[in-house]
Amino acid sequence: MQIKNVLFAASLAASASALPSTKSDTFGIVAIHSGSGVQYSSFNAAKSSIFAGLKSQNASCARPKEQDATFYLNNGALYLYDQSATPQEVYVDRSGMGQGKIGYTTGAQPAPKNAERQGWATKDGHLQFAGNDLIACPNSIDGAWSIWADAGVANPAGNSNCVGIAARVESTSNPNGCVYTQ
Ligand SMILES: *[C@@H]1O[C@H](CO)[C@@H](O)[C@H](O)[C@H]1NC(C)=O
Repeated sequence: MQIKNVLFAASLAASASALPSTKSDTFGIVAIHSGSGVQYSSFNAAKSSIFAGLKSQNASCARPKEQDATFYLNNGALYLYDQSATPQEVYVDRSGMGQGKIGYTTGAQPAPKNAERQGWATKDGHLQFAGNDLIACPNSIDGAWSIWADAGVANPAGNSNCVGIAARVESTSNPNGCVYTQ
């Protein structure tokens, strides 16, 4: 093997290690806040951001009609599921600039300054970041809710009427692989 092939194989192996160990490790997420419009809305991924209640993600998916995002956890990091070895990885920016912004990178794209990739975990069937529940803010694109991490700002980035949500994990054994828009 030529040296470039060895390097390519090594980088494939490195990215493949982030794939879920079994398909049952993949899950969708549903927002829970009773009495709020976000109640029971599924999480979506589009435009390098996470939403709930988006009608159309415009992602490239194995099953294009489904509009909810599929995630998996690997060592405290959160990924969007696809069958390829090029993962889209979620990050959180809890700095004064980010105020809890949740985004995702594609492939080898580096995380932005101040971004944290580790800190995701499930507790009692709910996905949390750094031990805190998430936040949903209304009136985002196409009438969907934007999803934020808790950085101690109840209404991040100039939003209003945001609500704390429990991000309920719904396991799937038949995940829909997608490449989500950047
Ligand atoms: C998806 O595409 C439609 C049609 O182009 C557009 O109106 C909508 O805003 C897009 N949604 C997202 C989340 O990109």
